[in-house]
Amino acid sequence: MRQPKVTVLGGGSWGTAVASVATRNTETLLWARDADTVTELNERHTNSRYLDDLPLHPRLRATADLQEAVETADVLVLGVPSHACRAVLTEAADHLRPWVPIVSLVKGLEQGTRSRITDVVSEVLPGHPVGVLNGPNIAREIVQGYAAAATLAMPDHHLAQSLQRLLSSKLYRVYTSTDVTGVEVAGALKNVFAIATGFGDGLEAGDNTRAMVITRSLRELSRLGVAMGGQERTFSGLSGMGDLIATCTSPHSRNRRVGVRLAQGRTLEEIAAELKQVAEGVKSSSVVMELADHHGVDMRIAHEVDAVINHGQPVEHTYRGLLREAPSHE
Ligand code: 13P
Repeated sequence: MRQPKVTVLGGGSWGTAVASVATRNTETLLWARDADTVTELNERHTNSRYLDDLPLHPRLRATADLQEAVETADVLVLGVPSHACRAVLTEAADHLRPWVPIVSLVKGLEQGTRSRITDVVSEVLPGHPVGVLNGPNIAREIVQGYAAAATLAMPDHHLAQSLQRLLSSKLYRVYTSTDVTGVEVAGALKNVFAIATGFGDGLEAGDNTRAMVITRSLRELSRLGVAMGGQERTFSGLSGMGDLIATCTSPHSRNRRVGVRLAQGRTLEEIAAELKQVAEGVKSSSVVMELADHHGVDMRIAHEVDAVINHGQPVEHTYRGLLREAPSHE
């Protein structure tokens, strides 16, 4: 039987890494907006803008033509930043066959609507099975071939199992779940907490502080995640605790770097120019607070991140803010 063709939308670091893994298993096409990136991917098998000169799978093909990318896809993987998802999916809609499953790699929420990206997919492309892949997955480490794992959540377990085979390798282990909400919410929320951890690291607050922030962040993340419909156990798994640890501690994390740089006195504009990539937690910080208010969940750490990012609070006030009341029962 012919192997399903995979198309990955988004030539950033994570879309490229997933496309390179999938190419081991099946014919895979990567859609990237930037023509130079496409040429480099096809000719040199690298994506130097995001992944330096790390070699990608030589059979991976790229295109800048969205119609070409989408019309041949048997499986569509969405790896564009959250703010671009709706527009890209709307453009893709006319070319996608109706039964094609969609897997989101996006670790963000839509600003304005506060929607999860799988909900945006279902709105724009009704009737398509949709799920999410998330885990402690620093893109460059996957491309370098270091062992890693993730969770693929789809409402239909059998479909998750068949997609699992396409998206995993010996060194990239993909587990399955049916908790799409939990896996997706965890991936979006952890970015905000990685910024908080970066604040502490940038202020050189030390290891105890880092451990406190990560541990209490997991509690906040789980509370909101459960209130939004996720399953409690998901938050202690790869897409919850796992991704939180990786993102809060990795020097490669864009979100953690935003926190570190803000603590060192840089502005968001300076940081954005330095990163040249999207740190989803910057945009998600206000959305997370809106969701916390809506669901009546106390999120002290996320509140401090929102205060710094969106309301001009100096980073040094952050930990004072966290401690402004006597702690309650853990
Ligand atoms: P950022 O690089 O966007 O902070 O995220 C890393 C990540 O999601 C690791 O799983």
